[in-house]
Amino acid sequence: MSAMPSVYYYDEHPPEADFYAEVIAGFKRRPRRIPPKFFYDERGSELFDAICRTEDYYPTRTEQALLQQHADAIAELIGERCLLIEPGSGNSEKVRLLLDILRPAAYLPMDISRDFLYQAADQVAQEYPWLEVHAACVDFTAPLSLPFCPPVSRKLIFFPGSSIGNFEPEQAETFLRNLIPVAGPQGSLLIGVDLKKDPAILNAAYNDREGVTAAFNLNLLHRIRRELAGELDPELFEHHAFYNDTLGRVEMHLVSQQAQQLKIDGQLFDFDKNESIHTESSYKYTVEEFIELAGRAGFTSRQVWTDPDQLFSLHYFDVTG
Ligand code: AVI
Repeated sequence: MSAMPSVYYYDEHPPEADFYAEVIAGFKRRPRRIPPKFFYDERGSELFDAICRTEDYYPTRTEQALLQQHADAIAELIGERCLLIEPGSGNSEKVRLLLDILRPAAYLPMDISRDFLYQAADQVAQEYPWLEVHAACVDFTAPLSLPFCPPVSRKLIFFPGSSIGNFEPEQAETFLRNLIPVAGPQGSLLIGVDLKKDPAILNAAYNDREGVTAAFNLNLLHRIRRELAGELDPELFEHHAFYNDTLGRVEMHLVSQQAQQLKIDGQLFDFDKNESIHTESSYKYTVEEFIELAGRAGFTSRQVWTDPDQLFSLHYFDVTG
């Protein structure tokens, strides 16, 4: 007899991000900015998935290969029947590379986007009928508390994709520190981190030849038009992404191609020619830099795996005892 899939839902009612208020506030600042969390409406999420499939954007396939290659070693480190927690789980795609080998007691995906989370959780439960799935709709960037905690030996937090790179380093440290009570004293963290490398590779990854990253960036302006009735022409802006060596990050901007005036809800914003809106930073770390940052947050490095070209790193940390 086959096991019935079991999936449980927890809605912690995370506050909705206020696109209008954050765009207006961001346009009043210098340099102007729009926080990267607003990339991910339906269209933006589709475009992000498409970025991950481009030839130039190496992080996704490189991390997937590392997960596949080292799943056995990861299983050995965490042991049997852990509670596998994934903040910002999205479509729960990468975790599938681990489930059969880790055989966790339960999987706890966490995401702010409720429908997407519940759909992905249902799908995982269907595909892995032996697995208990507990989907928690939360803002995972705020301090987390577990809605549920089965009696398991250990907890493993899985944070792939180098999403940690989209935090400012100080925020990244706070985010990791907030994971300590979630992981508990015997807990561990498996995290993907993009590495510092030849800027030409980074510049190509954020300026893919198919123009998908440009469309992803420009979608923010389309969103302002669609959702905020903004009076602006996205065609008068250009995608600009480059590696900032001093700050160790790729920056994405939308650059005004001419002097122009934008109007949102009666408010006017004057842009000079070449003035930019900063839309994302994607920090890159050496292995040592990241071990140091996580160390300050309360984690001790157990193992690091990298690919032969040193493009990407997969770190396994224990909570410092
Ligand atoms: C989600 N995040 C880790 C991606 C990155 O590489 O910083 C977002 C992205 N931006 C442009 N391409 C991909």
